[in-house]
Amino acid sequence: MPIVITGTGSALPKKVVSNDDLAKFVETSDEWIQTRTGIQQRYFKTEGESTSTLAIEAANRAIESAGVSVDELDLVVVATATPDHSFPSVATQVQAAIGMQKGAAFDVAAACSGFIYALSVAENMIKSGSFSKALVIGAETLSNLITPEDRTTYVLFGDGAGAIVVENKTEEEAQGSGVIGTDLFSDGRFKNELYTDGGVSTTASAGHVVMNGREVFKHATRAMSGLVNDTLVKYNIEKEDIDWLVPHQANKRIIDATAKHLNLSADKVVLTVGEHANTSAASIPLAFDKAVRDGRIQKGQLIFFEAFGAGFTWASALVKF
Ligand code: ACO
Repeated sequence: MPIVITGTGSALPKKVVSNDDLAKFVETSDEWIQTRTGIQQRYFKTEGESTSTLAIEAANRAIESAGVSVDELDLVVVATATPDHSFPSVATQVQAAIGMQKGAAFDVAAACSGFIYALSVAENMIKSGSFSKALVIGAETLSNLITPEDRTTYVLFGDGAGAIVVENKTEEEAQGSGVIGTDLFSDGRFKNELYTDGGVSTTASAGHVVMNGREVFKHATRAMSGLVNDTLVKYNIEKEDIDWLVPHQANKRIIDATAKHLNLSADKVVLTVGEHANTSAASIPLAFDKAVRDGRIQKGQLIFFEAFGAGFTWASALVKF
């Protein structure tokens, strides 16, 4: 049975912080940040906002756009590295807030690749026949994991959330739409290239992001090129068949390299890193929702999602929308 994306939603904190705002208290400049990353601004959470509040807002929008009733949903999977609490999961917080009283809800952690991991988990749980309609969410408040004392990471990240509803449909209902495949990878030998220097069981605090930027950049571009080649072969797809690249939004230069590998012109790439910065697991569903709502992405189009993040983890999803 096809598993179809039927709704999208997203949420951003109230506070916008431009590169010039950061340059007032961090030794950096708009020019440095934009040239290296394409980032112009980011959103930082304010009092009362958290990963769960953003996830709930995004979830409600996705449910509304899918036109499903909450009673029909039976699964919530949230990808996050920045949950409100160690437990309960953000997913159960969402479940309670939307008034869903059945099914299962849990979080997954795969850093910036988390959203595609969560989509793959939901896809396979629905395929197993145990579940039928899922909310898949990426939600983060990375601003809590960065400090102005480290300008090399402070300028890169932002907060936000994005959500989709995926449902099993009959062939007739789906009309060709559906998840074609999700592919997940990791290589833990690179765990020390990008990590937080704290954690509940070590320092009893979240710590801050520590990153070997050049290594991450090198591996990300290499992994994304490999992923593109492997996906095209595995699913017997030609580059020309892809309508949209919706990549993880870490860095415009990494995205440009992937688009080039796909022979995709810039107008076929959803680019939101300038506006949102790197929102880790939230970046893909935030970008996807934006392009669906402004009418760029249309039903029936072939979408290539890809991500790379700490671990290292990387992942792709090929979806007929
Ligand atoms: N403002 C101004 N100068 C800075 C800043 C800053 N915010 N940060 C570093 N610099 C300085 C450095 O101190 C260095 O100065 P020096 O030459 O006097 O020592 C100089 O700029 C160059 O530093 P590099 O680290 O070599 O800069 P690089 O050109 O490699 O760009 C960057 C850094 C943007 C982090 C790049 O390596 C990159 O994009 N890496 C990928 C990392 C990434 O995207 N991570 C996101 C998380 S993982 C993911 O989501 C895929």
